[in-house]
Amino acid sequence: MAIRLPLVKTLGVCLALAFSASALAADQPITIKFSHVVAENTPKGQGALKFKELAEAALPGKVDVQVFSNSQLFGDGKEMEALLLGDVQIIAPSLAKFDRYTKKLQIFDLPFMFDDMDALDRFQSSPAGQELLNSMQSKGIQGLAYWHNGLKQMSTNKDQLTRPEDIKGLKFRIQASDVLEAQFRQLGANPQKLAFAEVYQALQTGVVDGAENPWSNIYSQKFHEVQKTIAVTNHGALDYMVITNAGWWDGLPEDVRAALKTAMAGATEHANKLAADINERDQKRIEEAGKAKIQTLSKRDIAAWRDVVRPVWTQFSDQIGEDLIAKARAANQE
Ligand code: LMR
Repeated sequence: MAIRLPLVKTLGVCLALAFSASALAADQPITIKFSHVVAENTPKGQGALKFKELAEAALPGKVDVQVFSNSQLFGDGKEMEALLLGDVQIIAPSLAKFDRYTKKLQIFDLPFMFDDMDALDRFQSSPAGQELLNSMQSKGIQGLAYWHNGLKQMSTNKDQLTRPEDIKGLKFRIQASDVLEAQFRQLGANPQKLAFAEVYQALQTGVVDGAENPWSNIYSQKFHEVQKTIAVTNHGALDYMVITNAGWWDGLPEDVRAALKTAMAGATEHANKLAADINERDQKRIEEAGKAKIQTLSKRDIAAWRDVVRPVWTQFSDQIGEDLIAKARAANQE
């Protein structure tokens, strides 16, 4: 992949430029495909629809924003390549899915790094967080915004899920992230990287015993119907970086790019305002559905989980950088 990137990037730039130039020449609207892997009734799903609404209102007849949800156009694994090839213009992968492109974003996967979503928001808005939006430019990727989802909860097909030792030996689906792999190894579980679209079936058939996701993803994908217990661990965050093909973005007419930036800012505000409410609502819906038990944990239990996974920080501190870790930690104290 490392060898193919420059070629992929150049190809992406050429395709994108040729495409937007011909669209402009023929006075055709610029097609902007926005592909993602979650349902529409999630923070990311709602953000993508808001972006379409705002962009098309600001640029009537000039842009045609097409939103594809639920991995219907490209799933995990394919969407990044599609972006680099110019087959899709905007995607919003979870921050866990970038470690092939930059090690810096691994900061967001460190377990128990952020005390709550406000701390995460402060870090993302800080100069260090904003700089990370540009950390993949050399790979042809431009970050446009961070979008929130929420804190992750552990779920399994077992009745007992309060202590870290309860997941020893269990198979867990993880996102494509080396930090998350290390987290589950530290817990004595067996992590397995799987695309989001495959999770329901993997849980249902017992290919894996458990997973970690925010309430909104658990509910909208019906994971609670194929899990027995969901523990309120809040052990990490699942947020997104909205990204675009840097060559395509730079090749847009300046007024179009400026209007799209404003539309993205509006969509970001919308998605981030909704995220907490959607997760709260979906936690309640899961409770009401009565399929999986929601297990609350004591402070002592949470501390036990925290202690077991803490060595993961040291394991990745060289790749991420001690300075960045210190800045992220500082966001908890403000
Ligand atoms: C996952 O793979 O579990 C999530 O990243 C899916 C998503 O986009 O929220």
